[in-house]
Amino acid sequence: MEREPIIALDFPTWKETERFLQTFSNESLYVKVGMELYLQNGPAVIEKLKEMNHRIFLDLKLHDIPNTVQQAMKGLANLGVDMINVHAAGGQKMMAAAREGLEQGTSGKRPLLLAVTQLTSTSEEQMHSEQLIPVSLEESVLHYAKLTKAAGCDGVVCSVYEAAAISEACGIDFLKVTPGIRLKEDDANDQKRVADPAGAKSLGSSMIVVGRSITKASEPLEAYQKVKQQWGENNYAK
Ligand code: C5P
Repeated sequence: MEREPIIALDFPTWKETERFLQTFSNESLYVKVGMELYLQNGPAVIEKLKEMNHRIFLDLKLHDIPNTVQQAMKGLANLGVDMINVHAAGGQKMMAAAREGLEQGTSGKRPLLLAVTQLTSTSEEQMHSEQLIPVSLEESVLHYAKLTKAAGCDGVVCSVYEAAAISEACGIDFLKVTPGIRLKEDDANDQKRVADPAGAKSLGSSMIVVGRSITKASEPLEAYQKVKQQWGENNYAK
């Protein structure tokens, strides 16, 4: 049972990441490695985080033709991360291929596989004008969630505001991993659909991802503890 908030390690170098993690002394964390850190520093980062006993969500949001994603996932599965993701916009076949690749590349427990629905930085207006998707944001997210489930993935990355409807459509055990989390006193920055940890809890999120509210805090440990406390202890569906 994972009860910790997932900390987004959005740093450009391992040196900065290490400095940040030192604040947490020996606490075992659940961290998210995104493209900023991974693409500039490679698989060595994952090895180091594993040595430090942290659990890892590798947030690379793969989106390509099914065969390419399958082969990439096969390789990434070797890293031994706990959770990984693709973009649902890549389609059901691509998501199913991602799962197959993970299974082919995993010797032990397969990493959980999520799909990003609509980025939490996307507004409905932007989705209409830039993606030319004419339905509401919620409808688009729900459609992607159902497609994700049909492809055999374990859950979606979504905004907390879509979590309840996704549970209704895809079941309570289907994971709703929600970024766009802010402590009340913090800026939303580029995120459009934000909530605080307690709000995420009451809106039915399964796991929360918190970046800048912790990484940019003057006292990151204190901010982490505040997030953890507000998020509570018994939130995970899995
Ligand atoms: O700093 P902040 O808390 O906004 O960071 C959120 C993290 O979650 C970032 O690493 C971002 O890339 C990621 N993310 C997101 N929206 C998604 C998927 C991932 O904000 N739909």
